[in-house]
Amino acid sequence: MCGIVGYVGSRDAAPILLNGLRRLEYRGYDSAGIAVFDGQRIQIRRAVGKLQGLIDQVAREPVHGHIGIGHTRWATHGEPSVRNAHPHLSQNGQVVVVHNGIVENFLALKDELQAEGFTFRSDTDTEVIVHLIERYLEGHGMGIVEATRRALKHLRGSNAIVVLAATEPDKLVTARLGNAGGITLGFGQDEMFVASDLPAILEHTRQVAFLEPGQMAVVTREGAQVLSLDGEPIPYEITTVPWDPVAAEKGEYRHFMLKEIHEQVRGLTDTIAGRIEPSAARVRFLHLEATPEFARRIPKIFITACGTAYHSGLVGKFYFERLARIPTEVVIASEFRYMDPIVPEGAVVLAISQSGETADTLAAMEEGRRKGATLWAIVNVIGSQAMRMADGYISMQVGPEISVASTKAYTATLADLYMLALYLAELRGTLSEAQRRQLIQDLLTLPDLVGETLQREDQYAAIARRFVRAQNMFYLGRGINMPTAYEGALKLKEIAYVHAEGYPAGEMKHGPIALLDENFPVLALAPRDPWYEKMISQVEQSRARGAPTLAVATDGDDRAASLADAVLWVPETPWLLSPVTSVIPLQLFAYHIATERGLDVDQPRNLAKSVTVE
Ligand code: G6P
Repeated sequence: MCGIVGYVGSRDAAPILLNGLRRLEYRGYDSAGIAVFDGQRIQIRRAVGKLQGLIDQVAREPVHGHIGIGHTRWATHGEPSVRNAHPHLSQNGQVVVVHNGIVENFLALKDELQAEGFTFRSDTDTEVIVHLIERYLEGHGMGIVEATRRALKHLRGSNAIVVLAATEPDKLVTARLGNAGGITLGFGQDEMFVASDLPAILEHTRQVAFLEPGQMAVVTREGAQVLSLDGEPIPYEITTVPWDPVAAEKGEYRHFMLKEIHEQVRGLTDTIAGRIEPSAARVRFLHLEATPEFARRIPKIFITACGTAYHSGLVGKFYFERLARIPTEVVIASEFRYMDPIVPEGAVVLAISQSGETADTLAAMEEGRRKGATLWAIVNVIGSQAMRMADGYISMQVGPEISVASTKAYTATLADLYMLALYLAELRGTLSEAQRRQLIQDLLTLPDLVGETLQREDQYAAIARRFVRAQNMFYLGRGINMPTAYEGALKLKEIAYVHAEGYPAGEMKHGPIALLDENFPVLALAPRDPWYEKMISQVEQSRARGAPTLAVATDGDDRAASLADAVLWVPETPWLLSPVTSVIPLQLFAYHIATERGLDVDQPRNLAKSVTVE
């Protein structure tokens, strides 16, 4: 949700913090702020709205110092405003805190602190943390590390914080409670970084360590000491992150989203490479292994995820059931633990999450763990909580995804799910070697097909311009491309703010068709897959009701061309992989409608890239 960054070293802290926040703005952009110790006292700059407001403010009123913290906010408690913007300062002005998460018992703590005489200056739950720290610092004469540790003991819920105290301006204290929001420590030369996410520090260092839930760290320019919440030192590992910092730059593209859409060829190539042994018709993963005995006994797979990742899971169900013959249920992560799932012995819970930090997905994994399932995950962010919780994981090979609307992580996940199904099929003996060989050959053609699809951007953009004024849209799909309809509609909602509904085409006649008229365009997913005929008849039916019709159809499809008002053409694709090529025109269609409407594609209103609260 919120983005956090911290710096201690010999350089000027403010530009480093602002730059870090710039790379974290996708985590929230309701307000932003920094606090820097200037040698005398803590200086705070905060501004509501996007980061530029803060950058302008710092330019007007510069702050200089060698240690500081920063925050970009996605509001949960308290409206977006300057008074609710982080960092939050203690009453005595000696301690400042940035925070990600929700203090679940904040009302009770607030009452208690108010009764003790603390005055609250914001509506946030964060403010209780800083007052609690001050209480121990002042009242009990403790140092900042001990005062923070004591304060943390009062907090319920999942929270990540970074603390700076004017009384000990050589160190930052950071902590992670529960799953919400990771904390990454970055190790530089005589300088240290703290951040909620890697992109904030990648340009400075790739040597990092990750805090586990229930750990805190004392960070000075020389390094970090990790402690348990009981104050016991804990050994930790420093890892080198392979990501290229340039990958987190927009480069020649106008938006991260457009860049990431175009990175899908490379993303798919990297995803497939190294996992496939075409000569042996085999798939292998580095961090996910199963024995034939284990695979044969899997009675059921639960796929659990949110948003776009959930849609990829719906396609995954097809792969697992068709190729590996494993019954699969796809569950929205925020529902999983409330449905009291019946998890048979030997079952697998597979979580899909680009960020690996989505609170609901992590909670679903925990539920799976409680019920005795084996936990697998498909994740992008290295070192993320989902990756570390899982018994086995597949790491997406797409580099950082910055745009709030997910694109390249979606298509890479589809390829990962396809390969995982092939792997399980081999172990379970559900496909012959010849069949697997063919399916692998099909997969190897995918990057080229995606490249070919992307070259049609201008055609898709031209169609988008024709529909730029649409207020409502149906995206209809069936079978393996029903999730494509959901995903296409989600893209349009997220970035273009058009009411778009993804709907199973066969259900239209049971009610929704009543909505159709000349102002309600219908987009039908009609590539050449086993549901093609049905989808074409859907275009006919929608037309008969006077709705403008669009179709995603395969090159050379004359019927689609003669029926639909506009066709988003895709190259002929093996049908099991058609969700990959079919989604690309929909990503670009949404992108171009949004840009035509002058909207902020990378940072759509009210959204955040990773949702680390429930
Ligand atoms: C947010 C984002 C979506 C994303 C979803 C799941 O809602 O706006 O784009 O699909 O979270 O995120 P995850 O990181 O778990 O894949």
